Amino acid sequence: MVSSMKINAFQQCILPSCGETYDLSKPQIECEHCGNLLDVRYVGHPTPALRAVFKERLNSRGDVFNESGVWRFRELLNFSGADCNKYAEYSNLLVSLCGAEGRTKPIHLRRVAEYMGVKSGNCWLQFEGDNPTGSFKDNGMATAFTHARMLGIKKVACASTGNTSSSAAAFAANAGIEIVVFIGEGKIAKGKLAQTLDYGARVVQIKGDFDDAMRRVKELARQEAFYPVNSLNPFRLEGQKTIMYRVLDYLEWRVPDWIVFPGGNLGNTSAFGKAFEELYDWGWVRKIPHMAVVNAEGANTLYRLFNDYELKWNGGRVDDNVIDAYYAELDRTGEKAQTQASAIEILKPVNLKKALRTLEYTDGVVVQVNDKEMLDARAVVGRSGFGCELASAATVAGIKKLVSEERISEDETTVGILTGHVLKDPDTVMRYHADPRNAFSNTPIVVENDLHAILEIL
Ligand code: F0G
Repeated sequence: MVSSMKINAFQQCILPSCGETYDLSKPQIECEHCGNLLDVRYVGHPTPALRAVFKERLNSRGDVFNESGVWRFRELLNFSGADCNKYAEYSNLLVSLCGAEGRTKPIHLRRVAEYMGVKSGNCWLQFEGDNPTGSFKDNGMATAFTHARMLGIKKVACASTGNTSSSAAAFAANAGIEIVVFIGEGKIAKGKLAQTLDYGARVVQIKGDFDDAMRRVKELARQEAFYPVNSLNPFRLEGQKTIMYRVLDYLEWRVPDWIVFPGGNLGNTSAFGKAFEELYDWGWVRKIPHMAVVNAEGANTLYRLFNDYELKWNGGRVDDNVIDAYYAELDRTGEKAQTQASAIEILKPVNLKKALRTLEYTDGVVVQVNDKEMLDARAVVGRSGFGCELASAATVAGIKKLVSEERISEDETTVGILTGHVLKDPDTVMRYHADPRNAFSNTPIVVENDLHAILEIL
């Protein structure tokens, strides 16, 4: 299928000193020369005049690819080579959950802004939990499955803390593709496991955590046992760029000062940085926002390497020895990721180098927050009538920290990404509310089934 299409994209090693290129005909997870990650690169520059077209598509009913918050921006991620104006052509190539993915936009939440110490008018939160499977992953699965479809793939797989697996399972079910999911024992929230099973994925639980599962998926992908849909797949990250496009589209392409989001496997960090790098190169924006990646304290590899060990992208000359020594020490001590925010309970992020590249390009920062800070922040989001899962609240706790440390100033504009839905992990929510010592707990009132007794407590 690939060979008959227009060649307007290729894969390229992220290291400028290597720069090896590959066509799109294989699910290539790393450079064959140097073992580093790959990017999807495009031939040609889409014109900024398309901004008006993206807006128009918002109002067009009936074409699911215009309704989709991913494919509305199809010219900016057109690795399929489809004619973006010919429905008959692109509808045969692009994969969508009936246009439901990515229909999110930035919103103001006054209470949350107060909690974070920012002016509400200067801060937006984009709730990616509003995706069809309840997390931002649907943005990336639309593109990963599009590439899989281009290759005629029959079987996909992923390692997951639960959201990747839910999303991949939904897209696989929709496309009639077989899917295998690798999870760590006890490392996946109930809502996510329920979804993954319900959508029909084969779930393989290993004795170990996400990092162990990810290692196995990488090994199996090298043997071409299946098509991997983790964020090491560069085609997945293309879809996640649209999270930034929607922010910009909504803000009339005024670039905010800060973009803040949780860091786990660092796919978003990589995709958001790439989105801005391309938009800048293509002449769409003239300013680059600072990216702030928020790690959980118990899963803080990026925080430690970037801040304590001063590991930097350094124009592509990353000091591999620092990473190798750090991971060797983790192995030697048997240290494992440990946080209630299970979505980001990761110590060996696959996209580490791409994330370093983003941090350099955006003059970004990495902060860490503890579980208590995330738990309270999550509850404050809940009090606003929006529910997010614990890992997403790293964004809120992170903005609060950056404001209190005066790194985000009063007059700056900030967009925070809330990555997953509250119902993904009801156990953590219930535990928080059951403990009256928690600042925003809301414990059920137990009362006799008696009208007078009920009236008394009202
Ligand atoms: N927030 C949520 C809700 C997540 O599920 C994840 C990752 C992240 C943040 C971190 O994003 O990897 O781009 O840095 N979840 C993956 C999974 C690991 O398997 O569902 P990242």
